[in-house]
Amino acid sequence: MLDTYRRPLRNLRISVTDRCNLRCRYCMPEAEYTWLPRRDLLTFEEISTLVDVFVDLGVDKVRLTGGEPLLRRDLPSLVTMLAAKPLRDLALTTNGVLLAGHVEALKKAGLGRITVSLDTLRADRSKSLSQRATHPSVLKGIASVAPAGFTGTKIDTVALNGVNDDELVDLIEFGRTVPAEVRFIEYMDVGGATTWAPERVLSRAEMLTRLTAHYGPITPLRNEDGAPADRFELPDGTTFGIVSSTTQPFCATCDRSRLTADGLWYLCLYAMDGINLRDPLREGATHAEMAKLITDAWWARSDRGAVDRLAERDRLPFIPLTALKRDPHLEMHTRGG
Ligand code: GTP
Ligand code: 5AD
Ligand code: SF4
Repeated sequence: MLDTYRRPLRNLRISVTDRCNLRCRYCMPEAEYTWLPRRDLLTFEEISTLVDVFVDLGVDKVRLTGGEPLLRRDLPSLVTMLAAKPLRDLALTTNGVLLAGHVEALKKAGLGRITVSLDTLRADRSKSLSQRATHPSVLKGIASVAPAGFTGTKIDTVALNGVNDDELVDLIEFGRTVPAEVRFIEYMDVGGATTWAPERVLSRAEMLTRLTAHYGPITPLRNEDGAPADRFELPDGTTFGIVSSTTQPFCATCDRSRLTADGLWYLCLYAMDGINLRDPLREGATHAEMAKLITDAWWARSDRGAVDRLAERDRLPFIPLTALKRDPHLEMHTRGG
């Protein structure tokens, strides 16, 4: 099943809740948000039914996201349901705050991999960036992953000029001890990033210049098909990644789509509208009918959101706060980060 740019559908990001216990300034800077109505949230059974349809259509990578996915009660039972399906990869992206308390249950349930967001090693910076004093819990969460038996752990760091741009080396060194592969993410002008400005983006080129100055020659590694991060190797064999969605978008090979906690399906991070899968499912649509709905939409897909944004002149935040307040679906945290 290929879209109009011949991209397959292989990767599904499932947001299990729009709520989050942090207020990171690049994602959820406001104190108050309009949350999705609880009755609209997909049940675990409904998510599982939809994943069966997606798997039949070619999806073999599923990532659970939020908001903060560990705020969804009993997440391990969803993991158990999904782990029974023929997936190549079942992963979780979390801010780590609640991770230590759930990591063993997640492992037992059959979760494959964990990615934890960590923007800084300094508690004071973390508090000012996330507007919460949770840094020690996050570090505890990260420390709990390897002892629980997980491998392939990653750390996601949003690189921000003037905030954490002096910590690239420290974070790579920290990653070695976890062990986890650190990925630096360029600051994106997605919904929610209402203070985005070009000068706050630490570009991939600049990151590589700084890391080369410290470590010596850096070797690019072959990219996994459709993966957003480009991977690199330091002279001593340590690897790290850069997700350069802002300065060098990877839309040409994008094989992913997103399901919100209330069952809207988005074909691109930057899409203005999602396709409602919840209502037909609740109205009793058959597996074949759901498959047709999804197939028809994917065939017609022509999204290249980040490439289109790059072509914008005088680039400002993508969606103004007033519009975000009217429609929470435009928020990054609603559509799974
Ligand atoms: P793996 O490569 O499977 O480990 O995961 P991932 O990189 O897809 O997931 P993760 O949740 O760690 O996302 C890393 C960063 O990439 C986040 O900042 C995401 O918002 C960003 N990202 C993930 N998917 C997309 C996408 O389709 N488009 C864009 N532009 N950014 C994305
Ligand atoms: N730019 C880049 N990355 C972002 N994330 C959230 N908002 C942004 C943004 N504006 C990241 C989170 C998390 C991942 C799922 O998305 O830090 O690591
Ligand atoms: Fe895919 Fe859209 Fe992200 Fe481009 S911006 S990589 S098309 S989700």
